[in-house]
Amino acid sequence: MSPGPTILKMKTDAGVSEYELGRNIVKTLPEAVSGLNAVLFADNRLRDRLDDLPPSLPVVFLKGGESIKTMAGLQTIYDHLRRCGVPRDGLLIAVGGGTILDLCGLAASTWGRGLDFIAVPTTLLAAVDASVGGKTGINLGELKNPVGTFHPARRILVQPDLLYSLPRREWRNGMAEMIKTAVIGSAALFRDLEAHADDLTSKLADGDPRRRVAGIDTLPWQDWLAAAAAVKMKLVEKDFREHGPRRALNLGHTLGHALELSQGLDHGQAVALGLAAVSRLAAAQNTCTTRTADRIIGLLENCGLPTTLRPENKQAVVKLVERDKKTLGERVGWVLPVRPGRVLIDQAVDTKTALDHLAERRI
Ligand SMILES: NC(=O)c1ccc[n+]([C@@H]2O[C@H](COP(=O)([O-])OP(=O)(O)OC[C@H]3O[C@@H](n4cnc5c(N)ncnc54)[C@H](O)[C@@H]3O)[C@@H](O)[C@H]2O)c1
Ligand SMILES: [Zn+2]
Repeated sequence: MSPGPTILKMKTDAGVSEYELGRNIVKTLPEAVSGLNAVLFADNRLRDRLDDLPPSLPVVFLKGGESIKTMAGLQTIYDHLRRCGVPRDGLLIAVGGGTILDLCGLAASTWGRGLDFIAVPTTLLAAVDASVGGKTGINLGELKNPVGTFHPARRILVQPDLLYSLPRREWRNGMAEMIKTAVIGSAALFRDLEAHADDLTSKLADGDPRRRVAGIDTLPWQDWLAAAAAVKMKLVEKDFREHGPRRALNLGHTLGHALELSQGLDHGQAVALGLAAVSRLAAAQNTCTTRTADRIIGLLENCGLPTTLRPENKQAVVKLVERDKKTLGERVGWVLPVRPGRVLIDQAVDTKTALDHLAERRI
């Protein structure tokens, strides 16, 4: 593991964001809040893990999970901000997975028309994906994230040891986004993940999804997180509002979203299936080699992620993909892998063909 902290910077029209990664990085919080009117919201699973916070800092614990990403959840955050009298030059700190960060980010961007926001991701998925790039949001009924803003955290503080209490299921989910990110923009990260294939397999391929993972701390999380964050930050910097290159981050998600909703899968599982399907499809049409597709699928399987599925109701999946296109009012272009580190965006793909590739074992 790298010794000192790693600091990555991203500049968008909403300002500068710093991704700070290291062993004791959360210990820099007291300094950040000094002299400011701040409130900290944290997932209650982190209750015993936050030491050394200034006694004057109000800390509110919330139950993380999709059920907090609602209008009622947002109201709860606003109520605390009001009670604590947080002014527009105050500070909101959120500690948790993607659900707490998405919700608190939305509250931060609207309270006082934009509060400073510090994000402390505590799931792998949030450290790789949700904490970077400034998208905030809540769900409405069956719609995921229809209400949201772009409001990047000014600082993203990532302390890998805060993640070690995660159950195997959440490591798997986060690895789906990690592998996706490597395929999109980092051949080196992809190779490094492959170099740890045996280790990943022994920790994640089998085992109780609800249990903590023994020895998970021996993997080079600091290096992997830095590499993945760098890929996402580069894309966001180029295209903050997702008109072009940022869409690469949707790799595996076009089908993934529909599968998540229709088959009741975790987001990471659905993304893994979406990624496996487009990899086979890309190989079938010579966009990538069979070997590239095999490598991607192999890595997903090392991490205990599903790569084949015969959906209960194919028509329902096709409908959901089409509905996503309409709701977003734009092309939901498919993203196809070319080789580790390179993808093509805005590709036209027939959803049924993609679904056929989902059921295949090997190419
Ligand atoms: N804004 C973005 O760009 C973006 C990108 C990807 C995903 N997301 C959003 O992120 C959400 C998913 O994020 P998630 O997977 O982190 O979900 P989550 O916040 O629900 O966390 C998953 C589970 O882990 C628990 N948890 C959190 N930290 C823990 C820890 N250190 N130890 C033990 N348990 C812990 C949570 O309580 C929860 O039960 C979705 O709502 C998705 O829409 C947003
Ligand atoms: Zn995702």
